Amino acid sequence: MAKNPSALIIDTDIQARFEAKQIVKASGLTIAGECGFGMEAVSTAQELRPDVVLVGVTEPIERPLQTVEALQSLMPDMPILVYSETKELEFVRKAMMAGARDYLAKPIKPETLRQSVMMSLEAEEKRKLRQLGQLPGAATAGTIITVFGAKGGIGKSTISTNLAVALSGMARASVVIVDLDNGFGDIAGMLDVRPERTLFDMVRDLDMIERDDIERYVVKHELTDLDVMAGPTVLEWRKISPDQVRRAVEFLASNYDTVILDTSGMLNELAEMAVEIATIVLWVTTTEYASVKDSLEAMQALKMLSYSQERVRIVMNAISPDDGVRPSVVQDALQRDVFWNIPYDKKVRQGTHLGQPIVITAPQSIAAKSISDLATVISGGRIDRGKLQLPGFKWRGAAVAES
Ligand SMILES: Nc1ncnc2c1ncn2[C@@H]1O[C@H](COP(=O)(O)OP(=O)(O)OP(=O)(O)O)[C@@H](O)[C@H]1O
Ligand SMILES: [Mg+2]
Repeated sequence: MAKNPSALIIDTDIQARFEAKQIVKASGLTIAGECGFGMEAVSTAQELRPDVVLVGVTEPIERPLQTVEALQSLMPDMPILVYSETKELEFVRKAMMAGARDYLAKPIKPETLRQSVMMSLEAEEKRKLRQLGQLPGAATAGTIITVFGAKGGIGKSTISTNLAVALSGMARASVVIVDLDNGFGDIAGMLDVRPERTLFDMVRDLDMIERDDIERYVVKHELTDLDVMAGPTVLEWRKISPDQVRRAVEFLASNYDTVILDTSGMLNELAEMAVEIATIVLWVTTTEYASVKDSLEAMQALKMLSYSQERVRIVMNAISPDDGVRPSVVQDALQRDVFWNIPYDKKVRQGTHLGQPIVITAPQSIAAKSISDLATVISGGRIDRGKLQLPGFKWRGAAVAES
């Protein structure tokens, strides 16, 4: 995907065009050109072949929407984004029906525009690959949750394993946890299972594997319904590429309701792939200065690599009893809302030593409750205990206050 995609601005209002150009520039995209509606729009788009088009929609909406329809039918691969002063639902609906990929209400933030463009292009790319048979059709059927963090020892595996166990106990959902820590990952040890095969075997055999064969490559967690895909050895990791791993994860995602990916503390190609492929990225940080600083740097790097960060949710894990910094300070530093707080709980370490997640060994402990609530929210459920209730993924855990 282009790093600085080009946008054609279609608007008859000169002032609105000027403003749109400013926003396009500020968002790091390039301007392919500008023009008015109708035939002019179609011929300019066909001549310039921009990555996306931005269409300004004002009353009367018939003409701009006619332009959207014409562009959509003549150049169906080119995402069309509509912007407008109005937030009226009826307007939005009509624009989408005409073929717009997204609807941006003014004033548009450059960041919002960039995200919208990147996501539209990503979706388009995936659609093409799927058409070519390079992506399994139902790949996105399962939710992929990547647990990432820019550092080692901050609780990624603790959160992945507990979350996986908690999710697998819910509404008969099928869950598989995959060890993508290509350093010295040990998900199998943390869940006390002894795998006969690993992700390495699955990657190697992928072209021959049918749905019913999957159980030969995973090992069942004894106390729950969770399936565990153990990680390759350090040497085996060298023999498989991130792209091969991606295909294996996509295959799993077309066969499980939820795939949880545990990652190492490094932003290498494998982790990039795990972030890119995710439905949600739980980005773990602690309140320690080093962890916040590394998170900031990694987020910056992802931005440079043009990955959409829409799906990233910050999870703050208090791994030590004397984490002094307040969550609000971390939030300010990262310039992002903290989605979830997991309190410090000494029972977590005891659970780690026993080879069992605390959601099993101490379900009433504060950390276990916090992660169980996180699982509930992720699977679309509701939690009580006076927590702030917002639609979708914008829930916040307030459990840190209880520690
Ligand atoms: N909320 C918590 N309260 C107390 N201890 C915790 C908490 N979360 C994690 N820990 C402890 O912190 C240690 C590191 O956790 P974990 O192994 O999950 O980190 P990680 O990020 O996966 O590390 P690595 O990058 O090395 O794989 C473990 O001993 C774990 O028990
Ligand atoms: Mg780990």
